[in-house]
Amino acid sequence: MIVITTPTGAIGQQVLARVLDSGQPVRVIARDPSRLDSHVRPRVEVVEGSQDDKAVVSRAFAGAAAVFWLPPPNPKAASLEAAYVDFTRPAAEAIREQGVRRVVSVSALGRGTPLAGHAGLVTASLAMDDVLAATGAHFRALVMPSFMDNLLRQKDAIRDQGMFFSTIAAGRRAPTCATRDIAAAAARLLLDDSWSGQAEVPVLGPADLSNDEMAQILSEVLGKPVRYQQIPLDAFKARLRQNGMSEAFVQSYADMMSAKDQGLDNAAPRTPETSTPTSFRQWCEEVLKPVLSR
Ligand SMILES: NC(=O)c1ccc[n+]([C@@H]2O[C@H](COP(=O)([O-])OP(=O)(O)OC[C@H]3O[C@@H](n4cnc5c(N)ncnc54)[C@H](OP(=O)(O)O)[C@@H]3O)[C@@H](O)[C@H]2O)c1
Repeated sequence: MIVITTPTGAIGQQVLARVLDSGQPVRVIARDPSRLDSHVRPRVEVVEGSQDDKAVVSRAFAGAAAVFWLPPPNPKAASLEAAYVDFTRPAAEAIREQGVRRVVSVSALGRGTPLAGHAGLVTASLAMDDVLAATGAHFRALVMPSFMDNLLRQKDAIRDQGMFFSTIAAGRRAPTCATRDIAAAAARLLLDDSWSGQAEVPVLGPADLSNDEMAQILSEVLGKPVRYQQIPLDAFKARLRQNGMSEAFVQSYADMMSAKDQGLDNAAPRTPETSTPTSFRQWCEEVLKPVLSR
């Protein structure tokens, strides 16, 4: 039995589709099972409830060989510790108690760098991994740079103004990956019972790109000029506050973006194993462009 959390989320639903394709039995944790895809619903066992509820995770992990653990974004949480570490503690206890053999988490790049201790959401993700690793289960943390799919949040600005925004310097090159590649890496690990021990698995996409280079690719794929605009951290924070984010999350996003602008995402060596296939151009053609033309 393989347990998949966040089965309605961007990554989780792609992990679920891949694991179901393998024919393995699957159990999901869902707050609202009616949100599951209608083709998926009859093919999975559902444990209804929240992932931070000990009774829910205990039921879900009973007899599980492997667990896919994704901490859902909770931008209204009072602290990052609450959103990542405290949120994961009941699952860690259940992993230990139920003797789950393998755990695969969704986390972030940066461990071992001087920036990792002051990188907001990334710092919290790494602390969450420590809680999962302390269970003693065989463990792989998928560690990611910023997702290509984050640009979907700026689809209106790209379509209507021909612009996208971030706080990162226009010329700073960093890896970026597609959520489909994260899902592929997760499914591969969940379906493979030959690995053991504990390690990080970077998911770096095929190339490092700057925001200016991404703007050039966007312009070519969309057939119209798209420009990148760097914005000051204070303007970024004001925008997050307007969206109702808690002050803890606003500061944490700002700290993470500062760390990324100083090279947080550049520390993991690019090798054939850490590179993943979907290029930014391919992602723009196959994911972003269809969304913009709806
Ligand atoms: N974006 C980046 O660049 C980046 C980089 C590195 C790492 N990450 C990590 O990637 C993750 C985001 O993944 P994603 O984009 O797939 O998230 P997502 O699309 O926002 O999905 C999260 C899902 O979690 C479910 N959920 C929320 N609260 C829950 C709860 N208490 N119990 C059970 N389910 C709950 C929601 O489902 P319902 O609403 O249906 O309940 C939602 O579908 C975060 O952990 C983030 O730290 C992101």
